[in-house]
Amino acid sequence: MSIHKHRVWDGPTRVFHWALAVAIVALIVSGNIGGNAMVWHMRAGYLVLSLLMFRVVWGFVGGHWSRFSQFRLSPAGVVRYLRGNQSTRDSDILGHSPTGSWSVVGLLAVVGAQATAGLFSDDDIATAGPLAAHAPSAIVDAAGAYHTGPGKLLIIALVALHLGAIVFYAFKRKRNLLPAMLHGDHVGASAIDAPASRDGLWVWLSGAAVWVLCAALVAWGVARFGG
Ligand code: HEM
Ligand code: HEM
Repeated sequence: MSIHKHRVWDGPTRVFHWALAVAIVALIVSGNIGGNAMVWHMRAGYLVLSLLMFRVVWGFVGGHWSRFSQFRLSPAGVVRYLRGNQSTRDSDILGHSPTGSWSVVGLLAVVGAQATAGLFSDDDIATAGPLAAHAPSAIVDAAGAYHTGPGKLLIIALVALHLGAIVFYAFKRKRNLLPAMLHGDHVGASAIDAPASRDGLWVWLSGAAVWVLCAALVAWGVARFGG
């Protein structure tokens, strides 16, 4: 039996994913420890902001399957997918499924809201986000209440759902999504008649260049407003 490989997740998308996962775990742990760990909380928070900016740009210029135009967001498509009337077209096996597409949008939005609220939060002891000193106290209080309350719970719930969905696909649907997020390829017994994501040295270099620009913008903002 021959094996066919089809690139779905380009290198920069995979590095983005694992960096985001490590940073989010570090943020939840350091936020709950507090005290001296908050120095690292802020650093990991800035990393997440740069990663999110990178992902938004990559959604327009990245590999085929990382582009937002390939996300399947139509409500009718989601209903069909949940009812089990799944398309058997080759190209529909690749990329994010309809529920997967919405979960990516949800994760990115909730992580973005949490990081933005963090910028305005102040623990009234030793740690404050760089924008807290520039905002009215009502905004700082609301941002802090969201960041330490519903925002924190929402992130933990969505990450748990994300992991639960991957386990569900692996055992109930017999589709292991993890390897593609590690080595980039969908591996199957037959060739798939659909575009593959561009990857390789130039893609890695351009991904790195986009991230460096995003990180520089965050660093400039932090230096400008005071971290
Ligand atoms: C805090 C932790 C995590 C966060 C915030 C997170 C977030 C995300 C995001 C935003 C995507 C979409 C990728 C993109 O298109 O840019 C994604 C996809 C994915 N993640 Fe995670 N992730 C986390 C942890 C994990 C872990 C621990 C695993 C492995 C067990 C995992 C496995 C996957 C897989 C397999 C996909 C691709 C799903 C598909 O085929 O549609 N993630 N994740
Ligand atoms: C998505 C990224 C982030 C996550 C998941 C996260 C998570 C958390 C958690 C779990 C706590 C502890 C909440 C508690 O006491 O129960 C916390 C506190 C805090 N975080 Fe974040 N955080 C993120 C980003 C940021 C950023 C970017 C900043 C600022 C640069 C920031 C600044 C703070 C501050 C100042 C506190 C203390 C708030 C208080 O005690 O009132 N966080 N965060």
